[in-house]
Amino acid sequence: MQKWAIAATWPFGRRAVEVGSRLLDEERNGIDVVEQAIRAVELDPTVDSVGVGGIPNYEGEVELDAALMRGKDLAIGAVAGVKSFPNPISIARLVLEKTPHHLMVGDGAERYADAHGLKRDSLLTSSSLEKWKKRRQRQVQITDERWGTGHDTVGVVVLDKAGGITAGTSTSGLALKLPGRVGDSPLPGSGLYADDTAGAAVATGCGELIMRGCLSYAIVELMRSGATPQQACADALGRLVARLEKEIPVRNAHQDMTKMAVLAMDRDGNIGAAANHADFDFAYCLAEDREVRLERAKMIGV
Ligand code: GLY
Repeated sequence: MQKWAIAATWPFGRRAVEVGSRLLDEERNGIDVVEQAIRAVELDPTVDSVGVGGIPNYEGEVELDAALMRGKDLAIGAVAGVKSFPNPISIARLVLEKTPHHLMVGDGAERYADAHGLKRDSLLTSSSLEKWKKRRQRQVQITDERWGTGHDTVGVVVLDKAGGITAGTSTSGLALKLPGRVGDSPLPGSGLYADDTAGAAVATGCGELIMRGCLSYAIVELMRSGATPQQACADALGRLVARLEKEIPVRNAHQDMTKMAVLAMDRDGNIGAAANHADFDFAYCLAEDREVRLERAKMIGV
């Protein structure tokens, strides 16, 4: 039997894994699988940190970031600050496959999506609007520790039947972020990295911290040097936490603005995950038994 494997961040990643595992079984390539898996989460209005229903920025507009990376040739397609498109991951795919560029932002990315026939739609739901209004009524300020609450990224890593490794991410970023703020998710090396010769990793949590450690690249390079995905996740995140903890309370984190989590897969489809907090769950499915499972990541340093 040819191997395949898929894993995705958070319990809402279960939907991504269900969709992706069916496509992997049909021998679809990693780019198709990751795009379709992430689209399923982007279109679910109950997920309040991704796509439709994502929590708006400080001014009440939903701004989305997404990226895809193909491990065969290290090609990347990423978009940031995209409004009014429910599936930014599909714009990221256009960037990867149809442009000579890797990262497009805002209006330019939106006009490119228009030109390729992607449909605009409202991203606000009554629930996300209510949450936004309540925060504004409480007059949560940028300096308030409650400010960044809610920033869970869907990150997906895949080994396809042909041995291809692919990673993808999608998020509305920090709730109440300043307009124009971009997190780690569309940044190659920070929010995601994929290389067929080593493996793939994705990150979720506070983008401002994740990008300081280029966490996904660090994990893939540790796997290249022989670490298992579990060792690589714990080691890369542990090093960043050790480096930052004198200045920022990142060990055993309790605030969303200090939480980070990572998920990785090696070229054989083995999976690892780690977090600097106690509540990071991920979903996965392997060709061996086709069961979609949820697992809690190990918290580092305990
Ligand atoms: N990790 C998602 C973000 O910070 O935007």
